[in-house]
Amino acid sequence: MTQDELFKVLVAHCKEYGFIFPSSEIYDGLSAVYDYGQMGVELKNNIKSYWWQAMTRLNENIVGIDSCVFMHPKTWVASGHVAAFNDPLIDNKDSKKRYRADVLIEDYLGKIEEKMNKEVEKGRKRFGEAFDEAKFRETNPNILREKAKYDEVHNRYVAAEEANDLKEYKQIILDCGIVDPISGTANWTDVRQFNLMFSTQISNTGADDDKIYLRPETAQGIFINYLNVQKTGRMKIPFGIAQIGKAFRNEIVARQFVFRMREFEQMEMEFFCKPGTEMEWFRKWKENRMKWHRTLGMGDDNYRFHDHEKLAHYANAATDIEFRFPFGFKELEGIHSRTDFDLGNHQKLSGRKIQYFDPETNESYVPYCVETSIGVDRMVLAVLSHSYKVEEVGNGESRVVLAIPAPIAPIKVAVLPLVRKDGLPELAQKVVDEVKFDFTYQYDEKDAIGRRYRRQDAIGTPFCVTVDYDSLKDNTVTIRERDSMTQERVPISELRSIIDKKVNMSNLLRQL
Ligand code: GAP
Repeated sequence: MTQDELFKVLVAHCKEYGFIFPSSEIYDGLSAVYDYGQMGVELKNNIKSYWWQAMTRLNENIVGIDSCVFMHPKTWVASGHVAAFNDPLIDNKDSKKRYRADVLIEDYLGKIEEKMNKEVEKGRKRFGEAFDEAKFRETNPNILREKAKYDEVHNRYVAAEEANDLKEYKQIILDCGIVDPISGTANWTDVRQFNLMFSTQISNTGADDDKIYLRPETAQGIFINYLNVQKTGRMKIPFGIAQIGKAFRNEIVARQFVFRMREFEQMEMEFFCKPGTEMEWFRKWKENRMKWHRTLGMGDDNYRFHDHEKLAHYANAATDIEFRFPFGFKELEGIHSRTDFDLGNHQKLSGRKIQYFDPETNESYVPYCVETSIGVDRMVLAVLSHSYKVEEVGNGESRVVLAIPAPIAPIKVAVLPLVRKDGLPELAQKVVDEVKFDFTYQYDEKDAIGRRYRRQDAIGTPFCVTVDYDSLKDNTVTIRERDSMTQERVPISELRSIIDKKVNMSNLLRQL
C-alpha cells in the first residue's frame, strides 16, 4: 500500500469505527471541520490528560487555566494577529478554486526534491554497497540540473517572503509553469493577503467596533491572565501557565484530514523566565517535549527537530517537532522563544504594568517567555496513522489492528462471554463490575469470539477477557493481549492488576 492509499484507508477506518466523522455529514459536510465520535473522544481525552499531567503534575511551577475563546479585540492588535496573521492567496479564474501561493511554490519545490531523491535511489540500486550518496549528489548531471533549478526558485521565494512581495509570488508561479490541478490552467488572479482570523459580533448593533475574533491560538488567553495567575498563585519566576482549548483559523488550504482544520484544539504552555535565561529554558523545553513524544513508544526515528532559520521578528529561537505522517515529515509541535514580545505589547496597549518584581535582585522586568504549542488533533492523527496496521495472522487471513500506546487507547479492556447462555453472561457481568471503576471497557456477546477479537483489534483495545465454561468452575478467565495475540489463563481477582500494569498513565509519566 502506498502512503497515499494508507491515508485514505485510515480516514475510512476512523469513520467506520467511530473515531472521526466529517462534520455536518447529513448536509454533505463542512470543509475542514471534523467531529470526534465515541472512540475518538476517548483517545483525544487521554492525549490531553497525558499532556496536562506531564505539565501540571510533574512540574511544581506550572499551573493550568481555562480562558475564553472570546477576548477583547485589542488582544489581537497587541499580539500582531490583526496586522500580520495572513496567508498569501491566489485564485484560479477557470476552476474558481483558491490556493495559498506559498504552498503552490513549496509543492513545486517538493516535486523537484522528489525527483532528486528518485535519482539517488536509482544510483543506490546501481552501485550497491559502494554507493556514496554525498558524492553522487555533487556529480550526477541530472541531480545538478534539478538542484540549480531548485536553488534559483528557492532563493527567489525566500526573498519574496522576506520582502512580503506578493507580485513576485505570482511571477514565480507563472515562471515555474505552475498550473491549477483542477483546471490545468495558469489563469491566475493577483496574489492577495488573507487574514486567517474568524470574526463575529459581540452585540447586535452591527457597528464595526462590535467586531470580535474567535481566538486563532490559546496562548493569548495565557498572556492576558499572566498578572492574575502570578499574583493569586504567588508564582515565582521561572514558572509556566498551561492551557488546552479550541482555536479557529480560516485556513485556505484546508486538507489532509485533521492535520489542518478550521476549528481545532491546542495544548499550549507559556513558560515565563528572567531575560537572558531564555535560551537555557528553550533547550530544556525542546528536550522535555521530545521526551514526552518518544515515551509513547511510537519509534524515535519518527520524530525530528526542524530548527527555523528565518525567525519571526519577536522570536530569538524556534523549532518544530516534526512527525513522520503518511504524507511525510510535518510539524506536530512548535517550540518558540518569544522574548517579551507578547507581555510587552499587552503592557503598552492596555496601559497596565505587566512586570515581575524579583525579590532577590530588587528589580522589575517584563518576563521573557518560552512557548510549547501542540495541536491535539495533529497528535490524534500521529497516533492513529502510526498505529494502523494490517497483519497476516495465518491461514491466509489478516487482521486490522490499531496498536495505540496502551495508556491512551480509548477502550482498555473488552469483556466477552464465550456464549450467550449457561450463566456465562452473568459471570461476565461480574467481571465488568470488577474492572469498570478503573478502566474504560466494552461488553460484547454478539458473534463468534474471533470476530469479536477483530472488532477490538480495530479500535485498539489492549486486552480482551473471555469468560468460558471453565470460568464457572474455577473463577479464571482468558486474557488476550492485542499486539502479541497471546492468551493466558488468570484468576478474575488478578485481572485489575494485570491490566493496570500496562494501561496506567502513570507508567508513562514515571518515565518523563
Ligand atoms: N501559539 C503558537 C501557535 O499557535 P502554530 O505553529 O501556529 O503556533 C501550534 O500552532 C500548533 O497548533 C501546530 O504545531 C499544530 O500542531 C497546531 N495547529 C496549527 N494550525 C492548525 C490547524 N489548522 N489544524 C490543526 N492543528 C493546527
